[in-house]
Amino acid sequence: MNLFRTKSIAEMRKTAEHSGMAKTLGALDLILLGIGCVIGTGIFVLTGVAAAKYAGPAVTVSFILSGLACALAGLAYAEFASIVPASGSAYTYTYASLGEFIAFIVGWNLILEYTVTASAVASGWSGYVTGLLLSAGIDPGHALTHVPADGGIINLPAIFITLLLSVFLIRGTQESSKLNRILVFVKLAAVFIFLLLAGPHVDTANWEPFMPFGISGIAAGAAIVFFAYIGFDAVATTAEECKNPAKDLPVGIIGSLVICTALYVVVAGVLTGVVPYTELNSPEPVAFALRYIGYNLGSALVGVGAIAGITTVLLVLLYGQARIFFAMSRDGMVPANVCKIHKRYHTPYIVTVLGAIFVSGIAGLAPIGLIAEMANIGTLSAFTVAAIGVLVLRFTKPELPRRFRCPAVWLIAPAAVLVCGYLMANLPFDTWIRFIVWCVIGCLVYFGYSYQHSRLGRYQKRMRRIERHKHEEPEE
Ligand code: ALA
Repeated sequence: MNLFRTKSIAEMRKTAEHSGMAKTLGALDLILLGIGCVIGTGIFVLTGVAAAKYAGPAVTVSFILSGLACALAGLAYAEFASIVPASGSAYTYTYASLGEFIAFIVGWNLILEYTVTASAVASGWSGYVTGLLLSAGIDPGHALTHVPADGGIINLPAIFITLLLSVFLIRGTQESSKLNRILVFVKLAAVFIFLLLAGPHVDTANWEPFMPFGISGIAAGAAIVFFAYIGFDAVATTAEECKNPAKDLPVGIIGSLVICTALYVVVAGVLTGVVPYTELNSPEPVAFALRYIGYNLGSALVGVGAIAGITTVLLVLLYGQARIFFAMSRDGMVPANVCKIHKRYHTPYIVTVLGAIFVSGIAGLAPIGLIAEMANIGTLSAFTVAAIGVLVLRFTKPELPRRFRCPAVWLIAPAAVLVCGYLMANLPFDTWIRFIVWCVIGCLVYFGYSYQHSRLGRYQKRMRRIERHKHEEPEE
């Protein structure tokens, strides 16, 4: 068995060039795509919980810690994306550096990350919309807006939004990218309205005590608010649809990350400066803070902006999920006919539909709490492996052209592994158990299907047979 066979980077480049996908995205699209995926449920919902239960006002430090983990991993992603401009993000990078088996497990965890995060985000969307409908005097009914574990039958709004956005994605990247642009601006407007209205009301007395739960509280808070950063790596999954991936991808990844970190720290600072952290455990803390200081209209506006924000997150997650699946099916890791490109729209429509079915199924029936925790561990594991991979590739293939080089890679990559590992260690034990079970299922799929169907494996077998025949031919 050859579990560590690696894909040729030259081959990958060739495949990416001829993938049939339309190449329409530029650096600005990518930054907006990154922001589109990153700012959402995390900042609009989780900041409050993290401040009230884990970190107190020091949730700002938690955001910096998580942002640091992402920036370190982001630099590794950016270098990889400039070497291997192909769909699939960490999965593809690992295939080129650490070999097929680890790549499969990374891809398997990325599917988990995207599916679970998208499901949680769709549920969050449903919660906000239901809340807005209720406050407008329209009662959509508990049974059709809640999962069985919460006393309902099915979460229909979550299913509705997932299917609607999937239709957009099938119709084309450019259309989705346009929709994303509009929604990103609405979302940023919501954040700035909040900062403008609430900023002058900050009372520094609310920042005392700054670290009520100590350093361990900051770390636990960072492991939770890490969710708020999930998605910036989705930028790397667009490589085959970029006009100039080697230059634009690093700009897109690092640019969106820097903007989001700055906004998160400021929003978290203002939020904890306006409302005492003990009162922030609300499902809509940002809107709540505005009501707290008497801005009811502002609160409603920010609520609508939050819905727009969460919609863009879902859009990019569904997009990223389809691209990872696409990359894996093209390699024979999952059945190949699912990666067919739509003749008219030039998008991988079958994987998009499959992803939509899974995401809406989970969001429609499973409780968010249970599924959301899984997102962080899947993502952090992919970040860790990508950081190791970039280091391995510097060592094994130093001659490769790198349009973007991670600065001080011998320092940055190990630091990424350490910080991501530290955040993983701060996640609950149950999450670890579920994660291990998921990885075991992944191993079964790999050894039961993917190893035999791997395109690279079959290619290598064919080459070996040809070599053997050559040797067996009698000399003339
Ligand atoms: N980062 C995304 C969010 O916060 C997943 O909603």
